[in-house]
Amino acid sequence: MTSTTTPTVVVYGATGYTGRLVAAELVGRGVPVVLAGRNAERLRIVADGLPTGAAEVAVASLDDDAALLGAVRRGQVVANCAGPFVRTGDPVLRAAIAARVHYLDTTGEQDWIRRTFEVHDTALRGAGVAAVAGAAFDYLPGDLLAHLVGAPLAPLERLSVAYHVVGFGMTRGTQRSALEMLDGRDVAYEEGRWASGGDRPRRASVVFPAPVGRQTVARYPAGEVVMVPRHVETRRVDARISTVSVVPPVAARALPALQPLLERILRTPVKGLLDRAIDRLPEGPPEDERRAARWTVAVTAEAVDGRTASGVVRGPDIYGLTARLIADGALALADPSFAGRGALAPAQAFDPASTLDGLADFGVTYTVDPPRGGSGARSAATRTEAGR
Ligand SMILES: NC(=O)c1ccc[n+]([C@@H]2O[C@H](COP(=O)([O-])OP(=O)(O)OC[C@H]3O[C@@H](n4cnc5c(N)ncnc54)[C@H](OP(=O)(O)O)[C@@H]3O)[C@@H](O)[C@H]2O)c1
Repeated sequence: MTSTTTPTVVVYGATGYTGRLVAAELVGRGVPVVLAGRNAERLRIVADGLPTGAAEVAVASLDDDAALLGAVRRGQVVANCAGPFVRTGDPVLRAAIAARVHYLDTTGEQDWIRRTFEVHDTALRGAGVAAVAGAAFDYLPGDLLAHLVGAPLAPLERLSVAYHVVGFGMTRGTQRSALEMLDGRDVAYEEGRWASGGDRPRRASVVFPAPVGRQTVARYPAGEVVMVPRHVETRRVDARISTVSVVPPVAARALPALQPLLERILRTPVKGLLDRAIDRLPEGPPEDERRAARWTVAVTAEAVDGRTASGVVRGPDIYGLTARLIADGALALADPSFAGRGALAPAQAFDPASTLDGLADFGVTYTVDPPRGGSGARSAATRTEAGR
C-alpha cells in the first residue's frame, strides 16, 4: 500500500551543508519540508534559496523542549541532520517520541547509534514509532550489504566490513563528529558482547576487490559493529577503513601506529581546541569536488561451518548520496504501510536488496558472491591480514 498524500518532513539542522542538500532533495521531489534549527536568520536564508512556498521554518534550540516538540509535530517524520549527534541526538529523538513521529538521521557516530538501541528503544516502541540512526552514506549501504552477504550463511563466526574512499572532502560537521568518533571509546562485537574497540589489532591490510586492491587499514568505529548483530546472527563484527581514505598518503602507513596516541589526545582539552579550529575551515567541498568522490564498502562473512561469502557496494558523491538516502528513508518511514517500530538498523527498516537496487540510477552498484567452501576456506577477495 502506498500513501496517497505526500507527508511533511521536518529537517532538523537544515542550515548545515548536509541539511541543505537533504531539504533541496525533498523539495525537488515536491515533498513539503519544515526547515528546523536553532538560528532563525540562517534558516530564513535557506528557505529563501528554495522555490517560494516550498518550505516553512521552525526555530527550536535543543534546550527548548516545547519549541522542539512544536517543530517536530509539524511533520510525519523528522530527519535529524545536526551533529555531532552525541550532543543533538537525545533532544531531537525525545521530541520525535513525544510527537509520535518517526525519526532518522545522518549520524556517523557509533556511540549515538548504540544509544538509540540501548536507551531509546522502549520509549520508541511505546510511542509506536521507529528510529533509524546512521541512515546515510555511513552506514546504510554497508549495513544492507552485510545483511545480504551474512544472513544466508548465519550463524557466523565473523563479519568484517571495510571502507575505502577516494576524494573525500569532509565538511566541518563531519570533522566535528570525527573528533567524537576517534577518541577510542568505540566498541567491537566479540563473542556476542561489546568489547573495547581499542583492544583490536592496530595494523592490518585488507585486499579490496579490484581495482582498489590491497590497502593498509585502521580500526574504524563504524555503525555496522552495533547494527549488524541486530539482524545477522554472528559472534564477531569488525570494521576497518583504508588509511588513505582519511589522511594524506604520506601519513597513511603510520596512521595505525598513531591511532592510540590520537585517541589519548582526543580525551584531553585538545579536543575542544581542535573543535574550535574547525570553525576556520571551509564549510565543505564545492559541488564538483563533492560529486567526484568515490567509495567502496567490502564485506566478508565467515560462517561457523567454514563457508565464506563476500560482497562489495560502490558509488559516488558521499554527501549527495546522503541527501538521496535520507529523502528515500524519510518517505519510506512516513508511508502508512511502514510497520517497523523501535530503534532499527537500516537492514531492519528497509528491504536490503530492493533498497540497493533502487540506488542504481545514482550510480550505486553492488555484487554478492555466492558462498564458498565449507571446510574452513577463506575468501581471497577481502581476506583481512591482522597484526602485520
Ligand atoms: N553518515 C554520513 O554519511 C554523513 C553524511 C553527511 C553528514 N553526516 C553528519 O551530519 C552532521 C552534519 O554534517 P554537516 O556536513 O551538515 O555539518 P555542518 O555543515 O557543520 O552543519 C551542522 C548542522 O548542525 C547544526 N547544529 C550543530 N550543533 C547544534 C546545536 N547544538 N544545536 C542545534 N543545531 C546544531 C548546525 O546549526 P547552525 O547552522 O545553527 O550552526 C547545522 O545546521 C555531522 O555530524 C556529520 O558527521 C554524516
